[in-house]
Amino acid sequence: MPSNPLSHHFPRIFHLASLHPPRDFYPIADTPICLEIGAGKGKHALLFASQNPDKHLYAIERTAIKFEAFDKQAGMANPPNLTAIHADAIAWTAFAVYPKQIQTCFILYPNPEPKNKNQRFLNMPFFELLLSKMADGGQIILASNIGDYIDEAERLLTEMWQLPYSKRQIESTSARTHFEIKYLARGERCQELIITKPGGYRTRFDETLPLHLSRSSSDEA
Ligand SMILES: C[S@@+](CC[C@H](N)C(=O)[O-])C[C@H]1O[C@@H](n2cnc3c(N)ncnc32)[C@H](O)[C@@H]1O
Repeated sequence: MPSNPLSHHFPRIFHLASLHPPRDFYPIADTPICLEIGAGKGKHALLFASQNPDKHLYAIERTAIKFEAFDKQAGMANPPNLTAIHADAIAWTAFAVYPKQIQTCFILYPNPEPKNKNQRFLNMPFFELLLSKMADGGQIILASNIGDYIDEAERLLTEMWQLPYSKRQIESTSARTHFEIKYLARGERCQELIITKPGGYRTRFDETLPLHLSRSSSDEA
């Protein structure tokens, strides 16, 4: 446990021991990255990579059929600053990412999980691990078309995670992702929270190395 008090009031803790390395896993260097969790067919990932040549985006999608479509598009455009990864983003983040490595994390239109709200990202113990991997001043962009999802996230950010955020409504002409296009075409209100990790924010994972390193050093011991 850290000697300084934690910056949040989230009671549960993420269990790293049960995680398996993603298939075909390879490590990455400890340089600043952007991360997209649930990239779908990769529309936003390709757009972001072309508009931000100075940033490297790792975009993760776990559903095979969506990843195949993403990988095909990424292969054709072949931007040097985009890595498309077929994996569960939770395991991949735990195995690959260093503390404070992520500049910006995109979670765009995550599954709403209406029957199992514990599977929503801000309700999951994984969110604390993700925060430990965010740089000071780094931002998590969380978009949804579900008003209840955004309301709940705002409450959790204030009461549990103690994190500052701003909220904006997505313009009706925006077309960053396939789901965004679909929801806006139906006239639904899409909103986005821009969550900032302040400098000095403390989690229980601040000293936790990527699992590929800690597992290989404990294997050697
Ligand atoms: C509703 S879709 C949105 C896809 C895309 N962001 C968009 O807006 O078009 C949510 C996506 O997140 C993916 N997903 C959910 N949990 C994930 C996880 N733990 N790791 C990787 N992908 C995940 C799902 O497979 C699905 O493709």
